[in-house]
Amino acid sequence: MTGHFDRLVQDLPALGRFPRAALADGPTVIEPMQRLGALVGVNLLVKRDDTLPLAMGGNKVRQLEFYLGEALRAGADTLLITGAVQSNFVRLCAAGCRKLGLRPVVQLEQRVPKQDVAYNTSGNVLLLKMLGAEITSFPEGENEAAADANLDRIAERLRAEGAAPYVVHLGIDHPPIGGLGYVAAAIETLQQSKAEGLPLDHVVVASGSALTHAGFLVGARLMGWEVPVHGICVRRDAGPQRDRVLRRARELAAMLGAPQAIRPVDIRVDDTCLAPGYGQMNDRVAEALELSATQEALLTDPVYSGRALAGALHLARSGAFDAGDSVLFLHTGGVPAIFGYQSDLEGAPPA
Ligand SMILES: Cc1ncc(COP(=O)(O)O)c(C=O)c1O
Repeated sequence: MTGHFDRLVQDLPALGRFPRAALADGPTVIEPMQRLGALVGVNLLVKRDDTLPLAMGGNKVRQLEFYLGEALRAGADTLLITGAVQSNFVRLCAAGCRKLGLRPVVQLEQRVPKQDVAYNTSGNVLLLKMLGAEITSFPEGENEAAADANLDRIAERLRAEGAAPYVVHLGIDHPPIGGLGYVAAAIETLQQSKAEGLPLDHVVVASGSALTHAGFLVGARLMGWEVPVHGICVRRDAGPQRDRVLRRARELAAMLGAPQAIRPVDIRVDDTCLAPGYGQMNDRVAEALELSATQEALLTDPVYSGRALAGALHLARSGAFDAGDSVLFLHTGGVPAIFGYQSDLEGAPPA
């Protein structure tokens, strides 16, 4: 029997060359957001990657399939990863490890200036503890290379103790393996759009490490699908983010044997909703969280999905789309973090 992923590989055989540990096998649904779309004059749709199976879901499930595939191929028994205190990637990495019988060792970076108890103990932190991850903390949240280097030091120590560690590096100098998951997601979306008769004129997605954004873009272009893919900046300003997406997309395209597939004009980023910075609330994000909950019963988070939705609403209001265009908002998950943001969401003073 042909599985879901096999049907994606039929459209892009080069994707089948990479080791993958299956954590999800089936497409996520695309749903209309009629009320919210009507407010901004477009046909708004949402692809529910927040519902991907595994410990409360999210985009990193697709990315992890390829990191974990590589870790198993390399004979690892322990996985190391670094991320912000409320990182979804770290939570899902621990969950993926548990699913496959590996040992999760995680490093939490002080990336967001928030001292309140909920941020530091609830949401993803609580889930990490339930998953039994070994947690260390790292004070320098904005230095990706230093965070990766510290992980490498921990890996070295574990190796000396007899473990076989694999490090999921976040820095730009390591191969963009996780982006392969979103190459697959773009093929899945195109297949759905054809099968369900859904024309898609634009895609909007959160752009952080850029592997979701770059992966989707590469998958689309390798399929000959010229849809504009708008990345909403969640971590860096538009200038450096544009450079990062272009570099990651070209690396991914090269991994798949098509180094010329991505042109600079393909890279669209918008940082209107980023201030005051990563993981910090602003009025546009607060509005998006409220509108998606009250108009669509769709929960989004302040760091990623709610910020990306705020960006989609901004693009619609500022004329980036034509009236009636079909705009696909890719919901990348992140909802468990809302419990760490209770004080922002309630407007209450931090505990
Ligand atoms: C829920 C969620 N959405 C979006 C992103 C951004 O994805 P990427 O890092 O691939 O740009 C992340 C990254 O951690 C995330 O956790």
